[in-house]
Formats: sequence, structure tokens, C-alpha cells
Amino acid sequence: MGRRCLGLLLALVLLAGLLPVHAEAAGGPKLAAVTFDDGPGPYTGQLLDELEKRGVQVTFFMQGQNASRYPDIVRRAYEGGHQIASHTYSHPQLTKLSDKDVLGELAGAAGALDRAIGTHGIYMLRPPYGSVDARVLSVIGVPAILWSVDTRDWESRNADAIYRHIVNDTRDGSILLLHDIHAASIPGALRGIDALLSQGYELVTVSELLRRRGLEAAPGARYASAPGTTTLPAIAPPAITAEAAPGGQRVTLSAEAGTTVYYTTDGSRPTSRSQVYAAPFLLEESGTVRAFAAYDLNGGRGPAAEQKLEIPRVEAPVITLEGESAVISAAAGEVRYTLDGTAPTADAPLYEGPVPLPAGTLLQAIAAASGCGNSPVVSLLRSQRGNLFTDVRPEAWYYQAVDEMVERGLLSTEDGAFSPERAATRRELVTVLYRLAGESESEGALSFPDVKREDTAAFAWAVERGILSGFDDGTLRPEGPLTREQLVAVLYRMQMKKSAVSEESGLYGFEDWGDIHSYAWDAMDWAVSSGVLRGVSGTRLAPGGLVTRAQLASLLLRWQGLGE
Ligand code: NI
Repeated sequence: MGRRCLGLLLALVLLAGLLPVHAEAAGGPKLAAVTFDDGPGPYTGQLLDELEKRGVQVTFFMQGQNASRYPDIVRRAYEGGHQIASHTYSHPQLTKLSDKDVLGELAGAAGALDRAIGTHGIYMLRPPYGSVDARVLSVIGVPAILWSVDTRDWESRNADAIYRHIVNDTRDGSILLLHDIHAASIPGALRGIDALLSQGYELVTVSELLRRRGLEAAPGARYASAPGTTTLPAIAPPAITAEAAPGGQRVTLSAEAGTTVYYTTDGSRPTSRSQVYAAPFLLEESGTVRAFAAYDLNGGRGPAAEQKLEIPRVEAPVITLEGESAVISAAAGEVRYTLDGTAPTADAPLYEGPVPLPAGTLLQAIAAASGCGNSPVVSLLRSQRGNLFTDVRPEAWYYQAVDEMVERGLLSTEDGAFSPERAATRRELVTVLYRLAGESESEGALSFPDVKREDTAAFAWAVERGILSGFDDGTLRPEGPLTREQLVAVLYRMQMKKSAVSEESGLYGFEDWGDIHSYAWDAMDWAVSSGVLRGVSGTRLAPGGLVTRAQLASLLLRWQGLGE
């Protein structure tokens, strides 16, 4: 080396002396990565609980054979933002294995971790006993992670000793070695972690330690620590912003370039399986958006952001029929409507005045305002027979029966609502039958403790004719529901001529024939053979199932048809 070169070297050394050597000296953040080997085991769940309380992410170098034993723990650690890494399948000394056997150990561990997590991952390797050489490094295909702080927890099995190692030996960029298969390692690690946090350390996963120190986690590279003069920022929680849009609020999630954002809108904790953010989305009702950004789902997740969004819903419009046209009025917002059976959206025709509504037409409408959720859809069906329904659609299986029963005044609507799915009551059945019978006056002056005066005549008629009987306590329970077999039994008693019960009852064709009460057997047999009652499926009659108003309408119509 000539004089010139020597002088240049001297200058460089002097220059280097002026630069800060340690991040600490520069006041930069102090980073350290806590790692646990050999698990998971019986203490790992408790460790995860405690780490979660502290918001600390660590790295687990797991043995494949133990991951297979505790797959739920592996998955929980993964979703908790910890890094899942490999400690081989069965813990051999890799330098003593052939290339093929080294790869077999790694593939076995990766397979066990993949199965537990449910996805294909890349797992950094910690060679058992730290035993690795150039040959092993050349075949593993992932970085080998060693350590700079050995807590010797496997040797001491003493929480105080482990704590002292952590506090005394940790420096900026340290990778700490612990083992979560020893009971004493858990309290020792946690006390050490608390001490490091109070000293201002940021505790991160190994992959985050390398990323933030600008180091590439290259295959075959070996790392034992990552001190550095420069530190990239931690992964920030995504910024959640919302602005008024038609039908709700348009939500934008922004995060650092290179990250992927995972989010939920129902307030639940976002996971690797949550929605991936691609573009601003419309939130149509109040909810809590939670989101995290990740460079890597495995140990590269940032903290979650959370924002509650209040999105008022526009009040539903009101539809009335005036002459031949429907008039729609809304308390707020604009009204959109359809006449073709499709649900109205923000693109549907704008209501500007009365809409002609010929018989057989279904009108549906919503009220909408920017920044608010659309109102519920309201509808008005003007039926073929001229009835008005707010809750019956023309394609409903019961539409024709309901339309006919309402037209004949046997069943009624309330402000246009038929309530087809509501359970029919005993009073409704008795009232229909009474009307069908011509509303003949009852002879006696029966009264029942729980029947309203206006219903007394109908109930007295039903009781006198033996169609309906009271309960043991003297009540008739007019608002009580009807089971299918109770309804059929009443209709059977109404029949003037009772058909002879067939010898080979068709009821045995249903697998639940044993559920039929004996009092209702003949009635059920008659109802099924005459077609009044049909099975709820090909194999079930559901005799104890409740009768809805829609079912009552269609069953009564079929029963009426028998007499014609
Ligand atoms: Ni080990």
C-alpha cells in the first residue's frame, strides 16, 4: 500500500469517527426481537395472552412436530401478528445431515406450519443448536436467524436469571433467544419484556427488525442481530376517512406504499382472511371499520386502526293509492321507484309525481339522500282482484289464495299489511269459518273469560257445534297459535259427511307420522288423502308445526274447493 493510499485510509477513519456509530447515540429508536424456540407447548397460550396485553409481537421458531400437536396455538400466534418461523421438524443438527435430509426437515416443518395456518408460507429458519455451515446455508433457501442474547433459560430454568440476562445483555438490534417449552421462561421473558419497554425499546418480529434496518432477508444469509444507524418507520395503522356519497359514505383506507390493508366493517378484529382493500367502498349503514396494514401477514402486520361511522338511514317513504295512481311521499331525500319487480336502487327512475298503478302491478320505492343509508324498500301491490298489499309479492306461492280470501272478506289486511308469515290465531280461524257458515246467530248465551265481546258470537257458534273445544281451565285462547293438526281437526269436524278412514293410511308414508296426536289421526288421514294438507316435504307432515296466515289462506281455499 503506497503513501497516498495510506493517507486516504486515515482520512476515511477520521471521517467515520465523526459519524454516529450507534442509533442510541443518535437518539434513534432502539429495536430488539424476542424469539422463542422449540414450541409450541403447554405454556405458549399463556404467553400469547400476556403478549397481547402488552401489544408486543415476537417470533416463534417452531418445531414442526410440535406445531402438528398445537395447530390452534400456531394459528392464534399468526393472527396475533407474531412471526411464525421454522426450527426444523424434529430438531436434528443440520450440519450432520445430507442436503436431502436437511431439505426434508425444512419441508416437514413448513408443511406442519402451513396446515396449522391454512396457507402456504415462507418460514425463516433457526438451525437447532445454532449449528449451521456454508453448505447448509447454501441449501436452505431462507435466511438463518441466530441470536446475540442467549438467556440460557434452558439451563437455569430460573425466571430471575432469565430476567437478568435480558436486562443486562440486550442492545439495540439484539435478537434474544428463549424457549417457550420451559415454565420459568414465560415469567422471566415477560419481566424482561416489561423492563425493555420501559427503557424505550420497540420489540418487533425478526422480519420487522430486518426490514426496519434496511436489511434484505436473503435466502442463505445469516443474521444474529441488526444494529444500525438508520431505522425505517414502524408500520402505521391505516388512515380511515369517509365522505358523503349516494346511499351512504365512501370509505377510503390509506397506508404506506408496499403494504396490503385488511379490514372489516362490522367491528370485528381484522384477520388474514378479512377483506383486502382495493378501492374506496360504500358503507351503507352505521358500523365500525377496523383495518391493519401489512408488509407480510407473517410477522409484518401493523397495529389496527378503528373508526366508528354513524350513517343515518333515510326514513321510509309512504305510498298511497289515489284513484288509479300511486302517490309517494318522503320526509327527506329523493324517491326512486320501480314497477318491474326489481329492487329500487339509486339508479332507478326518480319519482316526480303520481305513478299510474294498474291492477297486477307491484310498485317498490326507496328514499335516498347523500351521506345517508337508503331507506328500507317499501312496496304496494295492486292485485289482480284490486286488493292493496304492502307485504305480498305477486310471485309469492300464496298470492292467489291470499288475494281470493281477502277479496271474499274472509281474511283481512291491516293498512295493506297481510302479514303472511305471522302465525295464524285460533280467533282468525274461527272468524273465517263463522263467516263461511253464514254468521248464524248462536242459540245460547255462552260467554268465555278470554274472548272479546265482538268475537263471542263466532266462538259460541264454534263451541256449540263441537268444532272447537275450550281448554281445561275454561279458556278458549283466541290469540293462541294453531298447529297443523289442530287446524285439520277443526276442518274435519266441519265436514258434513265424513269419509271412511282408509285401511292403509297414507300417513305411514311420512316419517313423522308418530308425532300425530291420536285425537287428530282420522282428521289428518282425511286431510292428506283429500289433498287439503300437503307435507312440508316429501317425507314430513310436521303435525305440530304452526300455521302461518299464508298457509291458512291456501289451506282453507283447497278445503273450500272440495265442496265445489
Ligand atoms: Ni432448539
